[in-house]
Amino acid sequence: ASTLGAAAAQSGRYFGAAVAASKLGDSTYVNILNREFNMVTAENEMKWDATEPNRGQFNYSSGDRILNQATGNGKRMRGHALLWYQQEPGWAQRMEGSDLRQAMMNHVTQVATHYKGKIYAWDVVNEAFADGGSGGRRDSNLQRTGNDWIEAAFRAARAADPAAKLCYNDYNTDGVNAKSTGIYNMVRDFKARGVPIDCVGFQSHLSGNPPGDYQANLQRFADLGVEVQITELDISGSNQANAYAAVTRACLAVARCAGITTWGIRDTDSWRTGENPLLFDGNGNKKAAYTSVLDAL
Ligand code: XIL
Repeated sequence: ASTLGAAAAQSGRYFGAAVAASKLGDSTYVNILNREFNMVTAENEMKWDATEPNRGQFNYSSGDRILNQATGNGKRMRGHALLWYQQEPGWAQRMEGSDLRQAMMNHVTQVATHYKGKIYAWDVVNEAFADGGSGGRRDSNLQRTGNDWIEAAFRAARAADPAAKLCYNDYNTDGVNAKSTGIYNMVRDFKARGVPIDCVGFQSHLSGNPPGDYQANLQRFADLGVEVQITELDISGSNQANAYAAVTRACLAVARCAGITTWGIRDTDSWRTGENPLLFDGNGNKKAAYTSVLDAL
């Protein structure tokens, strides 16, 4: 196959990119998007601050533009993200306790209902675990509403859109470490208690090679009966092309690894300014890392 999407499809997988609504008028950008990718994530447009700027007042205009561009060109969408401690609207940042819990669950229900039937997989909860050795939850106003907020969010999302796969998504979870093990234990507990969870997203914002146990870590989650997805891949450093191939091979080696999404298209689109961590250069040309991924798929 001659494109990332078609090559990934040979093994039943997808290859996606994060897309910004503000760039949909850039023909170089849109041409690459339409040619290479068959899955799309809105980079910011489906986050809480974008979709509910005022409490109870929803704005889906930018999210819908991306959704319509994607589905109109035969691509599927990952929804990102229903609840995240960052990019909360100001009104939610100022809330706590049962009032906030009510607002969180209403947000999940409203947004998942708006996009019902149109989303392949939702990141229901993003980045809820702490970095470092604790293996526990990160402090946030979301977490302070009670430790059961994650399962409550997953149940609300399932009720609103039963067809969407429901994912937990996080970073620094690439190898077997305290953080990924904390998440692993949560997923195992959810599966044991019937809390609806279908997938785990590994953001994989990397600097050079993935950890040596990257594939083994994906596999241990897959063995819990959830899909695993590489959701925000970008890789800095001189070993970039090899590192991209290693990530691609790891996903292909795990039967339940459903696909890979890069966090942007061209280096100039990346949130990691100056690190050039993507597969296309600023002019839209394929980099060595692109060829290395295509060859590995
Ligand atoms: C980033 C976007 O790329 C930026 O445009 C924005 O300013 C901040 O958020 N983890 C995530 C993504 O889950 O939502 C983040 O996206 C990158 C880190």
